[in-house]
Amino acid sequence: MPDVACLNGEFGPLAEARVSANDRGFLFGDGVYEVVRTYNRTPFLLEAHLDRLERSLAAVKITPDWNRATLTGQIDQLLAQADYPESKLYIQVTRGVAPRLHSFPDASPTLYLSATRIAPPDPDRFTRGVTAIRTPDIRWARCDIKSLNLLPNVMAQQAAREVGAFEALFVDDDEQVWEGATSNVLVVMDGTLITPPLGKRLLAGVSRAHLLAAARADGIPVEERTVTLTELQQADEVLLSGTTIEVLPVREVAGIRIGNGRPGPMAAHLLNLFRPDGATATEAG
Ligand SMILES: Cc1ncc(COP(=O)(O)O)c(C=O)c1O
Repeated sequence: MPDVACLNGEFGPLAEARVSANDRGFLFGDGVYEVVRTYNRTPFLLEAHLDRLERSLAAVKITPDWNRATLTGQIDQLLAQADYPESKLYIQVTRGVAPRLHSFPDASPTLYLSATRIAPPDPDRFTRGVTAIRTPDIRWARCDIKSLNLLPNVMAQQAAREVGAFEALFVDDDEQVWEGATSNVLVVMDGTLITPPLGKRLLAGVSRAHLLAAARADGIPVEERTVTLTELQQADEVLLSGTTIEVLPVREVAGIRIGNGRPGPMAAHLLNLFRPDGATATEAG
């Protein structure tokens, strides 16, 4: 089965989905998105993703002309058509199609969904851990909105790939680390799980929230506070969280080895807490 899409309610092969060159997502990046994954063919934490989508839409003043039940119905249909063992569901909403003027047009939002296959992951990522670079945080002041404007994230992740690293961590002028280009960051210090606080400097990751709740329920102390790069590099463990990467151990950050350079015990334990029962590993994306 090829990858499938649903564009404004029309289902078809992803390769054949077409939007207008006047779509404001294309012209201005004027839109927001979500990425959801399945475990055992069931969308994981879907309500939390749809809650965040609604928050993003409200923040950029896009008013959907569908309701959650309609959207959920389309998602179910799309995933059934894709019929992959595990799928990555992409949801994008733009302000719609209109002649190019900055101010809001009188247009219907464009709703685009796609389902693509998640392949089994490279087990090395979990057993060896990944590496990260530091990158200046040149992003806008509303990183809490999951907007289509990902150019700084694209540049940052490319810079990481060019030196063979997996992720780039955004570090501000005060040397505080906020998040990765496509992930949230957490550290383990003396058994406490620490992660930068919610606010406008980072995305409220659905995986981050799920992981913190699971850790607290398991009796692991959790702190939400700012972390400097030096503190992070001296932590016992550094972890990344994200929908498709799940929970990944980081073995090196900006050339400094974390702990003994091998994934620590908390990484494996948290990954276990993170995944729904019976889930198998799938690829980071
Ligand atoms: C900048 C950024 N931070 C954090 C995350 C992790 O968010 P989630 O756990 O909801 O996938 C992402 C996911 O793509 C992201 O792009």
